[in-house]
Amino acid sequence: MKFVIATLPGDGIGPEITEQACAVLNKVGQLYGHSFEFKEYLVGGAAIDKVGEPLPAETLAGCLASDSVLLGAVGGPKWDNLTGDIRPEQALLGLRGELGLYANLRPAVLYEALRDACLLRPDLIGDGIDIMVVRELTGGIYFGDSGRRQGPNGEEAYDTELYSEMEVERIARTAFEIAMKRNKRVTNVDKANVLESSRLWRSVVLRVAEDYPEVELNHLYVDNASMQLIRDPHQFDVIVTTNMFGDILSDEASMITGSIGMLPSASLGEGRFGMYEPIHGSAPDIAGLDKANPIATILSAAMMLRYSFDLEAEAQAVENAVIQVLDAGYRTGDIFSPGMKLVSCKEMGTLIAEALK
Ligand code: IPM
Ligand code: MG
Repeated sequence: MKFVIATLPGDGIGPEITEQACAVLNKVGQLYGHSFEFKEYLVGGAAIDKVGEPLPAETLAGCLASDSVLLGAVGGPKWDNLTGDIRPEQALLGLRGELGLYANLRPAVLYEALRDACLLRPDLIGDGIDIMVVRELTGGIYFGDSGRRQGPNGEEAYDTELYSEMEVERIARTAFEIAMKRNKRVTNVDKANVLESSRLWRSVVLRVAEDYPEVELNHLYVDNASMQLIRDPHQFDVIVTTNMFGDILSDEASMITGSIGMLPSASLGEGRFGMYEPIHGSAPDIAGLDKANPIATILSAAMMLRYSFDLEAEAQAVENAVIQVLDAGYRTGDIFSPGMKLVSCKEMGTLIAEALK
C-alpha cells in the first residue's frame, strides 16, 4: 500500500529523531511491500525563523493532504521570549485544533530491559508497568477563553477551563474502546471536588460507562492520582483525563517507565488520520550532537502503522525490533547504565531498522 506522510521535524533534536523514524519506516516498507512518501514541512521555531510564523498555512495544508503526520519537537530557548501567538508551541496547539485531533494516546510502558532505568523500587515495578493515558487534546484550559485586563490590583490574566458534553463524551468513548482491548479498567481523573467543569466531565464519563458494562471504572482526583501513580502504578490500565491534567500526568507516567525519551504518542480525531510525535521536547542542550534517543519517535511511527494505516503486524515488528535492540544492550545516553553499549541517535535508528523482520 502507498501512504503519504507529512514530516514536521521542527526544532532542537526534532530533525535527527524524525530522520531515524523515517529510516525505520522505509525499512518496514521494503520488508512488507509498502511505499511511504515523506513530504517535509516547516513547523515551530524553524518556521518562525524562515517565514515568521510557527504554523505556516502551507504546513497545515500539507498535513491535511497527507495520510498522517510525523512530528519531531518544537521550541527552544531561542524563541522563549516571544509573545503568546508567535511561540513555537502555538504550532502544536494549532495543528491539534485545526486537524481535529481530540484524542491523545500516551502509552507508558516499562521495557523489561530498562528495569534499571526505572526510578521506582523493584517491588513497586513488580512484573512491569503498562499504562495508557488518554488525554483530551483540543479543549479545556488550553483552548478556552483567555486574556488580560486591568483590575483593581493591577493587570489581571485569565485562562478558562471549559468542556462541553460532546467533547467529554467522545474522549470517554475513546478511552473505553481502548480499555476493551486491554485490561478493561478505566480510571477517570478530574478535580470534581472543586471544579464545575470536572463535575460535568465526571457525569458524562459515568453515562458513557453504561455502554461498557464489562469495563471497571473508578474516579480519582488529580492530586491523588499523581500520588497513586508513584505509590502503586499497577492499579492503572487506562487513564482518561482533561487536556491539562493529561499533560502533567503523562510526563509523570513517562518518568516511572525510565526515560521520557522512550514514550510515543498518537493524536487522533474521527477517522484514521493522526499525528504522531514523541512526548518529549526538543532537548536543545543536545540538539545536533547525535546523542538523542530516537526510540520515542520510532515507537510513534509504530503507532502510526497501527492506528492510521491499520498495519498491526508491521507496528508489532517495529516494537519488537526496539525490544530486541534494547535486550542486546544498546543504549542512548538517557537510558544508559554501566555495562551497556552506548550508541548515538543514528546508530540506534540503524540498529532498530536492521533488527526488523
Ligand atoms: C505536550 C507538550 C505540549 C503540551 C506543549 C509543548 C504545548 O507539553 O505535548 O505534552 O502542553 O501539550
Ligand atoms: Mg507535556
